[in-house]
Amino acid sequence: MLKRTHYCGIIRSDHVDQTVVVCGWVKSYRDHGNLVFIDLRDRQGLVQLVFDPQTQPEIHKIARNIRCEWVIAASGRIRRRTEGMENPRMPTGEIEVAVEQLEILNKSRTPPFEVDNAESVNEELRLTNRYIDLRRPDMQDKMRLRHRTAKLVRDYFDENGFWEIETPMLGKSTPEGARDFLVPSRLYKGAFYALPQSPQLFKQILMVSGMDRYFQIVRCFRDEDPRADRQAEFTQIDVEMSFVDSDDVMKINEGVVARVFKEILGVEVPLPVRQMSYAESVNDYGIDRPDLRFDMKLKDITDIAAKSSFKVFTSVAEKGGIVKGLCAPQANRFSRSDIEKGLTGFVADYGAKGLAWFKVAPADAGDGLQLKSSIAKFFTPDQQAQIIERFGAKDDDLILLVADTEAVANKALAPLRVKLGADMGLYDEGQFEFVWVVDFPLFEWNEDEKRYDSLHHPFTAPVEEDMGKLDTDPGNILSQAYDLVVNGSEIGGGSIRIHDTNVQAKVFDLLNISRQEAQQRFGFFLKALEYGAPPHGGIAFGLDRMVMLLAGTDNIRDVIAFPKTQRGQCLLTAAPSEVDQAQLDELNLRVQKHSHQPRTGNE
Ligand code: AMO
Ligand code: AMP
Repeated sequence: MLKRTHYCGIIRSDHVDQTVVVCGWVKSYRDHGNLVFIDLRDRQGLVQLVFDPQTQPEIHKIARNIRCEWVIAASGRIRRRTEGMENPRMPTGEIEVAVEQLEILNKSRTPPFEVDNAESVNEELRLTNRYIDLRRPDMQDKMRLRHRTAKLVRDYFDENGFWEIETPMLGKSTPEGARDFLVPSRLYKGAFYALPQSPQLFKQILMVSGMDRYFQIVRCFRDEDPRADRQAEFTQIDVEMSFVDSDDVMKINEGVVARVFKEILGVEVPLPVRQMSYAESVNDYGIDRPDLRFDMKLKDITDIAAKSSFKVFTSVAEKGGIVKGLCAPQANRFSRSDIEKGLTGFVADYGAKGLAWFKVAPADAGDGLQLKSSIAKFFTPDQQAQIIERFGAKDDDLILLVADTEAVANKALAPLRVKLGADMGLYDEGQFEFVWVVDFPLFEWNEDEKRYDSLHHPFTAPVEEDMGKLDTDPGNILSQAYDLVVNGSEIGGGSIRIHDTNVQAKVFDLLNISRQEAQQRFGFFLKALEYGAPPHGGIAFGLDRMVMLLAGTDNIRDVIAFPKTQRGQCLLTAAPSEVDQAQLDELNLRVQKHSHQPRTGNE
């Protein structure tokens, strides 16, 4: 068998006159009657092979029968392409391999789609035949990028004294708030392991054990519906440190992000990364993960709107709601139907009952500005001027307003702002804006269940100053949590943890987790806290999300070799699938009703 000496994609004019052996997949073949040309692909790129009937009649004959995606090895001399035949778009475009020996290592069935045209093929077909899809140079680049990111992360944490320690996959339910994937135990019938939603409790226990600095690139499992940036099975860069405060954790961890962005994209992340309070973020951007690539801040105009004669606004204001909105440039780009159908429909999906709008135009009288729209008549010239001033609006701006509860207004306006920013090209594609969101409330009130929920998870510590409020005013406690947000995407989040059992018990009380339930679910952990838990804190990054940003894709499946679909299926292997009765018997399980098998493209 011919042994490879060079990857296809790395051969250059320096190699001219050398004899090489290349191996790979046939991307394309061109039979010019006398000469046969094959573009051979491996993960490093393409190289052109030439078969000449004059010099190698036997091999030429074989070459004529080769088809796309066959696997071959070829040996030959590198030579410059004849003048005029160079291909400047190909890194190997100056040279070709004049083949002297050829081995067909394997044939291929006609692939279900052409590797080069995969972009235009539907994703289901690509995922079903992922081995072909992953041959695409674009996918190979993404896998390489993911590998390099993981390697940089490992090196960085190693240099900073962190140990990578593995934690179990078969464990007990963990507290990230999603649904667990359960694994039935054969030895203990009726008992189940849960796959980890994160290594949260194990990493905290490692701190109790004195490991001091831990990290792990680790798979996490959350049984929730996959989305564009969410998979049920995803990877975290998980970190925990002892004897630190939140600034220490943020410093180390913005360092790893800066290293990765610098090495992979050449992007300089300005350090320290700026911080923004949760309150400011929600106020100005309607959300706790602000996209800071463009300004367009939300403004509250309830005070002005309450005095107008527009019923929708005054009645919302009377009921304690708010009137909030944003101001976009280039109002003339929007027709009335763009606003009243398009944008209003968009916010309706987020629960807004309407979208009031004004175009800003020169005043009919004098040299100021005024508001124009069917509802402008409900606002006095003075109120119009105040609204214009509140938004800092200019001629030809478009003011869009939602009147509702604060929660609904923010929920609708935040995505509207992001959509307008993207649609109107308010930022550059290659721009990255990092921010730590800090000073989160420890709890949020759950009206349905009449109890508090943790904003992060129940192990997050309150800020020292607010410790006293655990008994008196839990709704106003700030936590020592921090999220790292890039371009409106949360790539990481963590906190300083509670290391005192009494504080932990109080938090469980407020979450309405009974002592008994706490014992049952986290008893092992609470006990560990009683044996000398050091002050500690940490963070976890979503590796998939980080690689998405680095790769410039908004589809998480593009950065995972074998992802699940939006319906939670692996189309390649047809998982999940039914199992044998014998397997069920062994686990003492009975399946009540056979539901539909996942559909696969292999059928
Ligand atoms: P959290 O739940 O915020 O924190 O997760 C940390 C980061 O993981 C990423 N992430 C996901 N990525 C893809 N698909 C998902 N379904 C998914 N869920 C989360 C996000 C997120 O910022 N144990 C804590 C961390 C800690 O406190 O140290 C935790 O898991 O980028
Ligand atoms: P209506 O009085 O329902 O015809 O609404 C008049 C205008 O006010 C329309 O442009 C609606 O989209 C808008 N509107 C209605 N309800 C709200 C609301 N809750 N917030 C903002 N605008 C609204």
